[in-house]
Parts: sequence; structure tokens; C-alpha cells
Amino acid sequence: MKAVELQALKETALREGRAASTPEAIEQVRVAYLGRKGALQDIMRGLKDVDASERPAVGRIANELKTALTELLETRKTELQAGASPSATPRFDYTLPGVWNRIGTRHPVSLIIEETIRIFARMGFTVADGPDIETEYYNFDALNTPAHHPSRDTQDTFWLETGRLLRTQTSPVQIRVMEKQKPPIRIIAPGRCYRRDTTDATHSANFHQIEGLYVHRDVSLADLKGDIAGFARELMGPDVRVRFRPHFFPFTEPSVEYDFSCHVCGGKGCRVCKQSGWIEISGAGMVHPRVLKTVGYDPETVSGYAFGMGVERIAMIKYGIHDIRLLYENDVRFLEQVSV
Ligand code: PHE
Repeated sequence: MKAVELQALKETALREGRAASTPEAIEQVRVAYLGRKGALQDIMRGLKDVDASERPAVGRIANELKTALTELLETRKTELQAGASPSATPRFDYTLPGVWNRIGTRHPVSLIIEETIRIFARMGFTVADGPDIETEYYNFDALNTPAHHPSRDTQDTFWLETGRLLRTQTSPVQIRVMEKQKPPIRIIAPGRCYRRDTTDATHSANFHQIEGLYVHRDVSLADLKGDIAGFARELMGPDVRVRFRPHFFPFTEPSVEYDFSCHVCGGKGCRVCKQSGWIEISGAGMVHPRVLKTVGYDPETVSGYAFGMGVERIAMIKYGIHDIRLLYENDVRFLEQVSV
């Protein structure tokens, strides 16, 4: 092959390379010129037969062809990927479904707590807080719960080596607030509680309560009933019924337990309420005079009510969740269904 012929071949190769507008076309040009059985290989193999005077020029042009074409094809490839060539620009397909960004949802327990805070805030309550790791004094003694009381049993309480404990209820926040403030007091205190319960569909060793405390002059059980019933209607809707049953707590007298009618079945009985039509929310009562004395209040001039609420229980009837464990597994498919 003569140098002029090779020069022409080089130009053709580069022209073809520039014209290649699909990955396949680029590959075709590469194989035809640079491949193992391509033109360049033929030329190299035939180099020994080339006239000695032509050989240096032929060798140089062959090298140029190789470098220039390799570079050109690389550039074409990147251009194509970037959509520089009009024919290779991906068309917008209007029929494709949109790309959704999956965003998180708020947890049902948080939703109930936030909603409860909102409702009680309208009745003049503010939010108070206390530690998860409590002393025996705040969790038991100050709440008139004597040393032999069964709730102190190691079967119920997580005791720490330091002698402290994981609070079994949010009631110690009552004491912490009353120690610092003078009546009137209107607080709610949401938080985690811990009990050595075996986990099943309605029990968990770690759960949430919302404590409520109202201390003022002439607070009565009627205030307690009215406020809880009003809260229940705000939270669950106008059809919810609330019932109070006599009960015992060391730190309230009289004491009650209260239930909401099951929101899922409307009180007819279902899996969530275990066919009873009611869900036990928690306990409540009039703050025991001894507790008032402990924090330095005069039980002759002030009285108060206190209540606890089981947040998970409320979440279960509000959202129709039949197993408390679903609330802790954090399966996003479950959480997305609940958080509308
Ligand atoms: N702390 C009690 C419980 O966990 C509930 C309660 C709160 C009862 C306030 C009376 C007053 O069972």
C-alpha cells in the first residue's frame, strides 16, 4: 500500500467515525479499522512488502490513523452518552408513571401524643417532662406507694444497679412539677414507661403514657370526668363513649379506671377490643391528700385530679391496630397506612 492510499483510507475512517451516531455504528467502525481482522492489522502485516522508501511514511500514517481514530471514537461515545447527538437524545415518555420520592411519616404514637397536647393546650394545659431513669422516691414514695406495695416488686419494675429504676409510670412527673410550682397547675406529661411485662398483643415492656394533672381550688371528680370525656370526643369523634370504674391507686382517692368505647367496631366487639366493645385507657382519680402534703400543698385549700393515658391503647383503637407489636416493628408499609 502506498502512503497516499493510506492517507485516503485514514480520512475515510475518520469521516465514518464522525458520522457514527449509535453505539453499534461506533463499534462497527472500530472493528472495521482497529479490530483484529481490521484494516490497520492488514496494513501492519503488509508493511514488510512495502517499498523501503515508502515504509516510514506508511508506518507513520498507520500510527496516526490508529491514535486519531481511537480518540475520535472515544469522544463520540461520551458525546452520545451525554445526548449530544440529536438522534441519541432519549425521548421523554409521557406514559411512564412518575418517580415518587418516598418520604417518612410520623409514627402513630407521636401522632396521638401531638394531638393530645393540642387538645389539652386548648384547655389551658402546658407540657411537663421528667426523666426516664427515676429515683424510688419520685416513682413510689412521694406517690404514697409504700415499700410493700406489689408494684415495687422486681417482677414489675426494672431496677438499676445504682438503686434507681426505669419509671413504671409518668406519675413521678406530677411530683416533680408540684415541688417546683404553686397551684393552679395544669400540665400534661407524655413519655416512655417501662415494666417487666411479657410482650403480647396488648402488652409491651416499653410503652408510652400521658400524665395529666390539674390542681386548683375546688377541683372535683366531675371536672375529671368532664375533661376526659371532652378529650375523648375531640380525639375520637362525637360518638365515643367513656366509662369510669372504681379502682385503687395509692396516690389518688377516690381512684378510677376509665375505658373508651372501641372506635373500630363502635362498641359491638371486635379483635381490637377483644370482643368487649371497650378499651381500657388507664387510671385516674383525685390526688391523694398525702401526696399534696408531701409536696407542701395544703389539702384543705387545694384539690386536684390526675390521670394517666396509655398512648398505644389509644393508637390501637383510633387506627384499628390489633397488635401492639406492630407499633414497634417500624415496618414502613404499616406506618404509611396509619399516618394519613
Ligand atoms: N400511673 C397509673 C398507672 O400507670 C395511672 C394513674 C395516673 C392513676 C394518674 C391515677 C392517676 O397505672
